[in-house]
Amino acid sequence: MRIVVLHGQLHKGSTYNITKLFLDNLSDENTEIIEYFMPKDTPSFCIGCFNCFTKGEEQCPHAEVVQPIVKAIEEADLLVLESPCYVYGMSGQLKTLLDHLAYLWMPHRPHPKMFSKVGLVISTAAGAGTKKVTKALKDNLFYWGVAKIYRYGKNVAASSWETVKPEKKRQIEKEVIKLASRISKQIGKTKPGIKTKAIFQVMRMSQKINDWNPTDREYWLQKGWLDSSKPW
Ligand SMILES: Cc1cc2nc3c(=O)[nH]c(=O)nc-3n(C[C@H](O)[C@H](O)[C@H](O)COP(=O)(O)O)c2cc1C
Repeated sequence: MRIVVLHGQLHKGSTYNITKLFLDNLSDENTEIIEYFMPKDTPSFCIGCFNCFTKGEEQCPHAEVVQPIVKAIEEADLLVLESPCYVYGMSGQLKTLLDHLAYLWMPHRPHPKMFSKVGLVISTAAGAGTKKVTKALKDNLFYWGVAKIYRYGKNVAASSWETVKPEKKRQIEKEVIKLASRISKQIGKTKPGIKTKAIFQVMRMSQKINDWNPTDREYWLQKGWLDSSKPW
C-alpha cells in the first residue's frame, strides 16, 4: 500500500502529530509513505495563465515542481491532506499547491485512478474553524474523483502540540485509532458513491457539447468517457 501525504505546514505541531498518529495506525511493514511538506514543496503561486486547462498540465510554468507530486498522487492508495486552521481556512502554502491541481477536477481532466482511492483530511484549530478547513480539503479530493473521503478535525485549545492537555491527547488517540480502523477497511476496496457518479455523468454531458476547451474534450474522448465507459 502506498500513502501520499500533503502536509499544509513544515513544522511538527498538533496537525503533524495527529497525522503521524493516523499514519502509525494505518501502515505496516509493506506500506510506503511519501510525504510533501508545504511550503518546502509548494510551487510558486498560480499565475492564472490557464495553460494547464487549455494547453496541458506540462505547459504550467511550475510543472517541474507540480508534476512529480501529481505522479505520486496518481500512484497512491490513500491520500492524506492536512492543515492547521489559519483564519478559518487551510494554510496559504497548501492552497497554492492545490490551485495548481484544478485541471484534475472532474469538470476538466480527472485521473481515472482517483475513482478507486481513499482520502483522509485532517485539521486542527485552537478553538474554531476545522470544519471549514476539512470541508475545503474534502472538496478538492471529491472533485478529483476520490471515491471515499474521511474527515478529522480537532480543536486542541493550544498553539503547540506540547501544550495540548494530556487528557485531550488521550481522547485524540482513541478517536484516531477508531477512525483509522474504519479507513483501513476501505483501502483497495472502495467505489465512488452516488454523488460522484452523478457529477461525472453531468460532466460527461458537458464534455459532449464542449466547444470551449479542446484539450479537455480530447482527454474525455481518448478515455472513452464520451460513450458509456466509466473510470471505476
Ligand atoms: C496565522 C494563524 C491563524 C490562525 N487562525 C485560527 C483560527 O481561525 N481559528 C482557530 O481556532 N485557531 C487559529 N489558529 C490557531 C491554530 O489553528 C491552532 O493552534 C492549531 O492547532 C495549530 O496547529 P499546528 O500546531 O499544527 O501548527 C491560527 C494560528 C495561526 C498561526
